[in-house]
Amino acid sequence: MEKELVIVLDFGGQYNQLIARRVRELSVYSEILPYDSNPEEIRGKNPKAIILAGGSAGVHPGIFELGVPVLEIDYDSMQNSGVDRLQNFLFEVAGLKGDWQMSDFIAETIADIKQKVGDKKVLCGLSGGVDSSVAAVLVHKAVGDQLVCVYVDTGLMRKGESEQVIKTFQEQMQMNLVFVPAAQRFLKRLQGVTDPERKRKIIGEEFIRVFEEEKARLGEIDYLVQGTIYPDIVESGSSTTPTIKSHHNVGGLPEDMDFKLIEPLRLLFKDEVRVIGEKLNISPEIVWRQPFPGPGLGVRVLEEVTQEKLDILREADAIVREEIQKAGLERKIWQAFAVLPPVRSVGVKGDARTYAYPIIIRAVISDDAMTAEVAKLPWELLEVMAHRIVAEVDGVNRVAYDITSKPPGTIEWE
Ligand code: XMP
Repeated sequence: MEKELVIVLDFGGQYNQLIARRVRELSVYSEILPYDSNPEEIRGKNPKAIILAGGSAGVHPGIFELGVPVLEIDYDSMQNSGVDRLQNFLFEVAGLKGDWQMSDFIAETIADIKQKVGDKKVLCGLSGGVDSSVAAVLVHKAVGDQLVCVYVDTGLMRKGESEQVIKTFQEQMQMNLVFVPAAQRFLKRLQGVTDPERKRKIIGEEFIRVFEEEKARLGEIDYLVQGTIYPDIVESGSSTTPTIKSHHNVGGLPEDMDFKLIEPLRLLFKDEVRVIGEKLNISPEIVWRQPFPGPGLGVRVLEEVTQEKLDILREADAIVREEIQKAGLERKIWQAFAVLPPVRSVGVKGDARTYAYPIIIRAVISDDAMTAEVAKLPWELLEVMAHRIVAEVDGVNRVAYDITSKPPGTIEWE
């Protein structure tokens, strides 16, 4: 059966890439290419139709001579009953069947990786986040033990997170996982450092150092898997999209690393990645994990990071997440977590005065983290969290709820 591919030419603008996803939702496989792509390159992919997403200025005239139907559409007209136009174009004009499914994508991706890698070795920096996890599992399905995953335990992870990674990848998936316990190294380098950007830089640098040491130990490796998804490419600026926000992602590796990249998810959106994760039977804790910043608890213990503060925060954060999960709100909330500020206040316990840290609860609703509003958590839920945190976590005597939206606040406190 011949594959039905639709090429979407991207003319920039934040929303144009969504058209490619709408096409996939109509069960037709689509890929995005820059607007000024060469007609021969496009011909080589053998598309059954071409969509000009958001314009036609600057498009190579040869595009119209490829003998395939071309539709010009922008996001605004997609909004006003535009899906009908798209449907009409795909099924009536281009005569497509629309029989593509995500499982086809999985099978083809695995076959492609297998062919590309041959008998070479592949390395993966696994963070436990959904993107790197799904990318790693796809590669594992393709090349088995030729894939080595490196998980760096920075000591800045949440409660149970490292154990979850070992359980999922080593025990359930039987993957080749190198677990690097590096908490003391990170803690030592963070000693006395209070500036948030300085902390990010240190954590990022130390991560790269640890990763390079492991890489050197593993010998000759040709390929590196990365869980890059489409919004990452857009956010860091493509040929048509200006940079929205620079990623100082920890787990971000230096560009001069001598690897060929495998990025099996680079055309997909987060929710599509989750569908694949579910189809690959990756545990729901990982597939549905909320976003977690690369520097981890390092930017949630405000100012100086110490072992004591990390331990306090980790316990309080686990209570926040557990109660959110019990209330069935985990998938409705973008992020819910605890923050530990560098102040102490007076409280009372039994007959005694206490002088201890407060915990700040942060829970936000968002689509893309660019803006966010505070989650209106039920009062009773907040009370349960507050009660449990002061009762169960030594060193905490007060709980506050952050009700600031973004902007003017940011999601994280640092
Ligand atoms: P802010 O605090 O800027 O966060 O509103 C927006 C989103 O980005 C995450 N975040 C980070 N992610 N490295 C990351 O990988 C970082 O240094 C970092 N800082 C913030 C944050 O959790 C939220 O989802």
